Order: sequence, then C-alpha cells, then structure tokens
Amino acid sequence: MTLHATSPIDGQKPGTSGLRKKVKVFQQSNYLENFVQSIFDALDSCDGQRLVVGGDGRYLNRDAIQTIIQMAVANGFGELIIGQSGILSTPAASCVIRKYPSCGGIVLSASHNPGGPDEDFGIKFNGPNGGPATEAMTEVIYRNTQQISEYSKADIEPVELDVIGEHTRGSTLIRVIDSVVDYAELMQQLFDFDAMRTLISSGNFRFCFDAMHAVAGPYAQQILIDLLGAPADSVINAEPKEDFGGHHPDPNLVHAAELVERVNAQGLDFGAASDGDGDRNMVLGNHFYINPCDSLALLAAQSSQIPAYSSGLAGVARSMPTSRALDRVAAKLNLDCYETPTGWKFFGNLMDAQRITFCGEESFGTGSSHVREKDGLWAVLCWLNVFAATGKSATQLMQEHWAIYGRDYFSRHDYEGVDSDAAAAMFAELKQKLPTLAGSEYAGLSVDQADEFGYTDPVDGSVSQGQGVRIFFSSGGRIVLRLSGTGTSGATLRVYYDQFDAESLDLDPQKALAPLMRAAEAIVGIEKHTGRAAPDVVT
Ligand code: G1P
Ligand code: ZN
Repeated sequence: MTLHATSPIDGQKPGTSGLRKKVKVFQQSNYLENFVQSIFDALDSCDGQRLVVGGDGRYLNRDAIQTIIQMAVANGFGELIIGQSGILSTPAASCVIRKYPSCGGIVLSASHNPGGPDEDFGIKFNGPNGGPATEAMTEVIYRNTQQISEYSKADIEPVELDVIGEHTRGSTLIRVIDSVVDYAELMQQLFDFDAMRTLISSGNFRFCFDAMHAVAGPYAQQILIDLLGAPADSVINAEPKEDFGGHHPDPNLVHAAELVERVNAQGLDFGAASDGDGDRNMVLGNHFYINPCDSLALLAAQSSQIPAYSSGLAGVARSMPTSRALDRVAAKLNLDCYETPTGWKFFGNLMDAQRITFCGEESFGTGSSHVREKDGLWAVLCWLNVFAATGKSATQLMQEHWAIYGRDYFSRHDYEGVDSDAAAAMFAELKQKLPTLAGSEYAGLSVDQADEFGYTDPVDGSVSQGQGVRIFFSSGGRIVLRLSGTGTSGATLRVYYDQFDAESLDLDPQKALAPLMRAAEAIVGIEKHTGRAAPDVVT
C-alpha cells in the first residue's frame, strides 16, 4: 500500500527560509509527509527526476530522510542523491544540485536554531538552480498543504546512510555520496589554494574556525586542515551533533563566545564561525569584531584579489536591512547594486540573470554566484585569500576600507518571544503613523522619509510587499523594523540601526547609534508595546 489518506494540517506556511517548527510538531502523524507530498505535487513531474537530499545532522534528520526516501520512491523519482550520514551543508546541497542537474533538493535544517527533541527542525526546498524555492513556488507548496488528501509512501527497507554506495528501491536509484568532496572541489576552483597554503605554513598567521558542533565541521576539516595544511586545532567543535552540544549553533558574539575568547586570549590573527547548516559566517580579527555588512563591503572591494572574481563582478546585492556600506563600494567600482527583501531567495533570480556576483545580508550571510545559497566557509576562504594576497591583517584591511569609504555603523536589536498580538498592534500603529513622520523631529533627529519596503523583482517582475518599515533621517541614519519569519514561537521583533560617518571611524557602534535608538523609542514605542526595556540579542 503506497497511497495514504490524510487531511490538511494548519500552519504549514513556509517562512523566510522553509518550514520551521519544534521537533514535536514535526513528529505529529502525517506532518512531515503532508509537507513533502505538497513539495512533490508542486513540481511539474517527479517521474524519473533526480532529487538531492541532505541536512544539518540535527535531531530527526535521519528519520526524516528515511521518510523522504520512502515518499520519493513512491512518487517515482529516478534518482536520489543523499549526503553520507544524511549530511549536506546548505551551500553544499546547492553545489550538488547544480553539479548533478536535478529538479531540486530537500534540505533539512533549522539553521542557527538549537536542535534536540525539544528544539527546532526545519525543511526547505531548493529549485533546480540550487537556490531556495521562489516566492511563487513556496505559495504553491503552501496551497497544496491546505488541500492535501493523500500522500504516497513506499513500504521499503531503510537505506544505509553511513556508507557511501548505491542502492535500488523500486525503480529509484539511491546514491549515498561523500558530503564534502564536490563542495571542496568547487572551492579549489575559486580560490588560490597555493597562496593560502603558503600563508598558513609561514607560521606568521594563525586562525581558528568554530564549527559550533554543526554541519560545517567535516567541510572545515577537509578544506582548512587537509587541503590547506592548517594545524589540527585550527578547527574546533568539528563533530556535528544532533543537539549541537546543547548550544545555539548561531555565529554571533554571544553564542560563539568560545571562539572570541580563543582568538583574543591566544592572540590569533583571525577567527570565524558558522551556523547549524553552514551557510552563515561571523569573522573576527584580533580583538576586532567585523560586522557582516562591513565584511560584505570589504570582500566586494577586495574581490579582484581572488582568482574566480579577478575579472570583475557583474553587480552586487544586499538585503534591505543590511547597511549601505556595500552601496559605497558599488558606486566606486561602478557596479549595479540591488536592494532586496530579507531572505536569500531574492538573490537567485539576480544571479541566474548574471546581474550580480556577490550578495549578502546583515544576518551573517555572505555569498556569490558559485552556488545559490549563502556560504559560510566560502566567506572564510575569501578572507583567507585576501590575507594571503595582501599580507594585511583583518584590522588593517577594515580600517583602510573605512578610511576610503567612511563607516556605516550598524547594529541589530532582537526582541524574542514577544507577544504576537502586541507586536501586530505595534506595527499597525506604526504603519498608520508612517505618512506623518517626514519633516518631524524625534529625540532631536529629523525624519526625511518613512515607508514600508516593497520589491519588484527586476528579472521576473514579481512583487513582494510589506517587507519591513524604513525610517530615514536627515543625519544619514536609518531605522528598519520587521518581524522575523524564521522563529518557531511567539514573535521576534528585529530593529536595525545604521548611521554613516565619514570622519569618526572608531566609535563603539552602540554609542554611535544611541541617538537613533532614542528616536526609535520616540516614534515606535517599543517598550510601551512589548513591555521590553532592552533587546534580548544585540549584534
Ligand atoms: C533570518 C535573517 C535573514 C535570513 C534568514 C535565514 O530571517 O534575518 O536575513 O535570510 O534568517 O537564514 P528572519 O528571522 O529575520 O525572517
Ligand atoms: Zn543557516
């Protein structure tokens, strides 16, 4: 019996990056099956198609993969490519989808959210270009979840995932592949591995990469240690664990405190960390935090040092809340610079149309058109390649960058687990106020313009409205507010502050942005609405 009756389950609307819920929600009967069948039904056809499957190794990853295999076999897929032990980082999945032409891939991950029986799980579909499903595809999947009445699932032997090999189930060929090899090969095509090896073996440059007990561990070990010859202790927390060692695999100053401490205490030149599924990155110099917005701008400015980008970039893009540091580089290099809504899916069309090469988000996401996802280890290799090519330190590079372009102070304040109704009321009030803000002063700052961001994709003309509130000040400052689309409980309010300064280049960002924070309180009344006097996370 392969056909199973089911009925729609509420709340299967994918967020910024796929469907993310508590593990317990995914364990409800038919929950995963309904969503997977809804993905398959959104494809033109499954018959004889190739599908890539992998995940970040978190709790439920293996069970979910066996279910997906059963369903893919029953739905008539010709071939499944699965990462060994069910492991594929998000950028590696994108790489594999592109290398072995597929109708897409299923990536099991809740990114930087914690893992374990009481924590988070997630599932997302990537299209044949290797990138997150478009808004239109996501809509179809969601609509399918609301109408589903049956799914197909074959009664077959589980597939051995820990050993590389080939299996046949029904008429489907199942290939369990090395999780790292294709990705490592791609990295070697992009970067100057000889120059990086020379830098590392010189003994004058020491670094540490924190895989945070998550999926990037095996990738970092093979690339940084085996291929680049870095000392074994250059990669820490390298073994992927189902619960990420009980930590949040979130590369920021709070959750990657072990890395920060190590870089500073041991006087290392460079530190980096990535998240649960290996697509995010945080980079540090010695006692020197580098904001992701600045990292993106600097890498764009230095891209000609990297072999794959030495002949120039097609253009660049950043998500709307990301600081405008990138725009300054684009203006100088005479490149088009696109501003997209939050979420990587909006970069895909621009890359497919060869309008951009580099793109990024303030949320520790940096990437290029080598794949269609953000890529943590790629960003680390970019920095290593720039160190090798210039002989300069992270601090020196960043300070020289600011001296040329000026500095965009940036910070994001997150208020987690806010009451959803209170958050909705706050936004309703703010949106009503928006047309009246321009020309008025708040906490001593005068508003230039205020609106709600909407985006028209220049490639396919699709429109995405309601992508966050923006308030611009005549001081050159900006406040952006939006609600997270990746949380699994309550509402998370994100408030983004940025302020350009051409002269004072070494202020504490929280101090440089304090006037904007006072203006935010005066305009929005965050405390009044949420009851929170201070954010939970500041990055
Ligand atoms: C967050 C980030 C966003 C990123 C997404 C997936 O989404 O803000 O930039 O693309 O995670 O990693 P949010 O929770 O804000 O919707
Ligand atoms: Zn991630």
